Amino acid sequence: MPKTSAKPAVRSPAARTGPSRAPACRVALIGFGTVGRAVAKILCASPDHSLRLTHICNRNVERKKQPWVPDDVIWTDDFQTVLASDADVVIELIGGLSPAGEIVRGALQAGKSVVTANKQLIARHGPDLLQLASSLGRQLEFGASVAGGVPVLPALRTGLCGDRLHGIAGILNGTCNYILSRIETARIPFSEALEEAQARGYAEADASEDLDGGDARAKLAILALAGLQTRVTPEAVRARTIRTIDAVDFDYAAELGCTIRQISRADLKEATLFAEVGPSLVPTSSPFGRVQANQNLVLTSGKHGGDVAFLGAGAGGDPTAVAVISDLMFVAQHLSAGPRSHAPHQLSSPRVSCDFETPWYLRFLVRDRPGIVARLAEILAAHHLNIDSVLQKPGFDKAALPFVITLEPCRDSMLHPALEKMSALDFCIKPCLCLPILR
Ligand SMILES: NC(=O)c1ccc[n+]([C@@H]2O[C@H](COP(=O)([O-])OP(=O)(O)OC[C@H]3O[C@@H](n4cnc5c(N)ncnc54)[C@H](OP(=O)(O)O)[C@@H]3O)[C@@H](O)[C@H]2O)c1
Repeated sequence: MPKTSAKPAVRSPAARTGPSRAPACRVALIGFGTVGRAVAKILCASPDHSLRLTHICNRNVERKKQPWVPDDVIWTDDFQTVLASDADVVIELIGGLSPAGEIVRGALQAGKSVVTANKQLIARHGPDLLQLASSLGRQLEFGASVAGGVPVLPALRTGLCGDRLHGIAGILNGTCNYILSRIETARIPFSEALEEAQARGYAEADASEDLDGGDARAKLAILALAGLQTRVTPEAVRARTIRTIDAVDFDYAAELGCTIRQISRADLKEATLFAEVGPSLVPTSSPFGRVQANQNLVLTSGKHGGDVAFLGAGAGGDPTAVAVISDLMFVAQHLSAGPRSHAPHQLSSPRVSCDFETPWYLRFLVRDRPGIVARLAEILAAHHLNIDSVLQKPGFDKAALPFVITLEPCRDSMLHPALEKMSALDFCIKPCLCLPILR
């Protein structure tokens, strides 16, 4: 049975408004986990009287109660209590598609604006939810859904909206960046770096969404929505895993002046959105090459303003809570000016392709014998692909020898038939690892 409770007597500092002050914006929080708790702490500690926390909603709410929350805040495990309340803004921080989707829709239909950090919901239903908010004259803000505390989405909404953006690229998943950075600096196997990330709380027990690119492509779909005004489903974006990266790849990448990072990129060219997520070689001296541990970086490319970079903490309760509170303040400012409808941009629905033209890094693991390079070169030549270099470090066991061929720029679609043929050769121990080189 849903329970609702409030201790009547003590008023929160944020509840007090002086005679000349505008009424405070009433805020209901749904989801009292890592981010929700950090948001509540900032709201309860803030001397700013313009925001007033009125409700905290979570399943089994009794165990969530905190002594630092003012007595007049209502604790409930019933969403309907929040939707029927006089809250002006609902903050959704439970995550996932359901019931978060029903809550966001219900709150908008109940006349409330909404702030959310929910990347899965916005990546899949963002355009429709924005349309609903607009038709009801309410606001929907989701600045924390990509890159946590890095204010890239608010920048797309305001500081960069005067440009015509055509490209967005980023390191959007802190777990992958932590694991790849650890393999790079400690030259440990992937499995060891993953275990370490899990032990430190940087990776979940089942980290597939992170490692295989599902998390990053949802974020890329949101960036494409906000920055390129395109409607793209996450599933339309190809995602390659980082599980195939080995310490030896960092040795060979270093020979090429590069390191390896999980890069998410989207380039809008006429009616095609070139987009993908996956491990890629990037120059060590580039902004991407310098991103360490669990930081996030987003680079935007605009027709008029050129390239702009955003770097910072991509996750964590406090940095993400800052992004949520910033959205809340933005919504509150508009509320005090009276309700108004913010028409979303006209969205295009481009064809989505992963057929980028780049140079390529091909790493083979072979049982060594004479004639291997000649056989591979023959297949590449038959597919009109030009070799740029062949790298073979000394000292490896001939029974499992890793070596690298780099290719001059060609389209992904030209390369893949050749890759299939090469990986099927009897001296190949594993399928060839193929990574784009982003110069
Ligand atoms: N953590 C980050 O660094 C970060 C960064 C960027 C964006 N985000 C996004 O922020 C949102 C919240 O993330 P989080 O890390 O705070 O998650 P979390 O720690 O798992 O917190 C979620 C909270 O919502 C509650 N909840 C879940 N399902 C519910 C339901 N059906 N009914 C009622 N309450 C429910 C949970 O209750 P229980 O305690 O019972 O599970 C928990 O208290 C997610 O959309 C996430 O993707 C998080």
